[in-house]
Amino acid sequence: MRLLVTGGSGFIGRNLLKQVDSSCEVFDFSRSKGHDLRNFKESYDTIREFAPDCIINLASNGGSLHYVSSFAANVIHDNVRMYVNLYEVARLLDKIPFIVNPISNCAYPGNTSIQKEDEWLNGPPHESVHPFANAKRTLYAISRCYAKQYGVKTTNLIFPNAFGVEDSTDPNHTHAMGGMIIRMLKAKRNGDHEFEVWGTGNPVREWIYSEDFAKYLLSSLAMPPLLEPVNIAQGRGYAIKESVEIIKELMGYEGNIVFNTKYKDGDPVKVLDATKFTSIWGDYGFTDHREAIQKTIRYYELCCL
Ligand SMILES: NC(=O)c1ccc[n+]([C@@H]2O[C@H](COP(=O)([O-])OP(=O)(O)OC[C@H]3O[C@@H](n4cnc5c(N)ncnc54)[C@H](OP(=O)(O)O)[C@@H]3O)[C@@H](O)[C@H]2O)c1
Repeated sequence: MRLLVTGGSGFIGRNLLKQVDSSCEVFDFSRSKGHDLRNFKESYDTIREFAPDCIINLASNGGSLHYVSSFAANVIHDNVRMYVNLYEVARLLDKIPFIVNPISNCAYPGNTSIQKEDEWLNGPPHESVHPFANAKRTLYAISRCYAKQYGVKTTNLIFPNAFGVEDSTDPNHTHAMGGMIIRMLKAKRNGDHEFEVWGTGNPVREWIYSEDFAKYLLSSLAMPPLLEPVNIAQGRGYAIKESVEIIKELMGYEGNIVFNTKYKDGDPVKVLDATKFTSIWGDYGFTDHREAIQKTIRYYELCCL
């Protein structure tokens, strides 16, 4: 199989490339490898030459809430341009490749506690993420239109927040759980007596370990297309408090955790409904939350200390 990965140099891309079977011919189409999906001509020439059977589409311009709101126009422009270019290139190729898109669950309507696929477009996304979330909704719309007119086959999968090995080691760019682990490692190293967490610690969030994220993307290549989005879901979340306590225990940090309730909590619960997922993947398995945190701590200990 000839697999093209857009954004193979990113967090999920690095996990994915480690898991790809050696019989697979892989092309990493990302900026640091000299490719820009916003440039149609360059993308067309390069992708045509590689002639992929499948594309896992990880290229993305995203980041923290602050980044997404400060660079709202760049975020929607870059992402939508990359998605339109990718589908236009794909449909022009002699053999149209199968495309797999991860969609983040921030694309669900704001204030939805149990996120069910048949309700995912029933209201606007939360204002804080609207440039990124609407770009993802547009990607879904593009995939439907190119399926309808040109027969481009797509699988759209919705993922919760990821954490794990290969995440950025820059606390300003890492994702929420990784950022917390880096901060606590530093607090431990500095002998800080207190570790502050914003809010009450009560909100419940679902997480996916980065190696599982990659595993599910790759497994979908062997399945028929799932154009209508499917949650990659465990159907359970963890209170922030619970995850922080696990990190503290596994790291051996001896200070106190202080919940700063001057900062408001987000929604009380955000968990993906797992009904559709279970009917398709059955008991394919996720890494235990504790074990995933342990592996992530180890990763940051090696990279950051
Ligand atoms: N991480 C999560 O928690 C999470 C959760 C749900 C869904 N997802 C989705 O999974 C995908 C991958 O996420 P990620 O966390 O791996 O993102 P990431 O770490 O920010 O990586 C983004 C990748 O896109 C590449 N890229 C950016 N602009 C590009 C362009 N113009 N042309 C070509 N490549 C470009 C980057 O290349 P360079 O680094 O070389 O510039 C990088 O390889 C995204 O679509 C994201 O929405 C992620």
